[in-house]
Amino acid sequence: MSQVTYDFSGKVAIVTGAAGGIGRASAIKFTAAGAAVTVADVNADGGAETVALIEAAGGRATFVATDVASSDSVQEMVARTVETFGRLDYAHNNAGVAGEEGSVADIPEAEWDRVHGVMLRGVYLCMKYEIPHMLAEGGAIVNTASGAGLIAYPGQSPYVSSKHGVIGLTKTAAMEYGVRGIRINAVCPGTVLTPMVETVIEEQQLEPALIALHPIGRIGTAEEVANGALWLCSDDASFVIGHSLSVDGGYVLP
Ligand SMILES: NC(=O)c1ccc[n+]([C@@H]2O[C@H](COP(=O)([O-])OP(=O)(O)OC[C@H]3O[C@@H](n4cnc5c(N)ncnc54)[C@H](O)[C@@H]3O)[C@@H](O)[C@H]2O)c1
Repeated sequence: MSQVTYDFSGKVAIVTGAAGGIGRASAIKFTAAGAAVTVADVNADGGAETVALIEAAGGRATFVATDVASSDSVQEMVARTVETFGRLDYAHNNAGVAGEEGSVADIPEAEWDRVHGVMLRGVYLCMKYEIPHMLAEGGAIVNTASGAGLIAYPGQSPYVSSKHGVIGLTKTAAMEYGVRGIRINAVCPGTVLTPMVETVIEEQQLEPALIALHPIGRIGTAEEVANGALWLCSDDASFVIGHSLSVDGGYVLP
């Protein structure tokens, strides 16, 4: 449970991949702090559930069906956000997919393109269409990378390379827009119990092996990652740009 309360009232945020997991936790925290939020996801049922949770707690949110790998879809989602809520202050570009296991020579080209399309092209497209709405009054963007954006993970080359790409893209965009009032950072989760990993953990009985990769002695929660994302968007991080914030129980330390 976070002990920090931000005041984002009057502000508007986009959270992609907010139908569940880290994105849902982030959307809930943004609205609890007073922001209105666009819940953007390909999963309409999960998106509607996130909106229902937010509204039940007295917050403001709208679901926009979005495929972050599609330029038209991202443009439409950003336009609908500004139409609905009148402005855009924050974005948590977080949508992601798990990649197929396999060594580099065995990864099908289509799988490479799929993973990069959602996670690297998706973050590029979101920033491309979000940034113009933030230039007049400033804003903050957090891109979800991963511990796998900082170190290698054999068998996961599309995932690892796209997340390394998200970090490079974040640093570059931070240098381009910091002086223009938009702070851009990344959050790098370690293993977090979300729908993305729950199935794998159950199917392969991986929990003890995953815990062993985290020096803190456990895996994390979506809320812990969302706390990092909200801090990066808040004025408490006013001098922080281009940073990759590890929220990972020490996963990248060894
Ligand atoms: N869970 C972990 O252990 C972990 C670790 C490191 C990084 N991450 C990253 O965190 C982010 C969130 O993952 P999560 O663990 O909450 O998983 P999740 O599966 O719960 O959430 C990912 C969301 O992204 C959505 N999505 C997938 N493709 C999309 C697309 N093309 N357009 C729009 N939305 C799409 C899914 O529908 C889902 O709601 C991802 O970028 C993931 O790579 C997760």
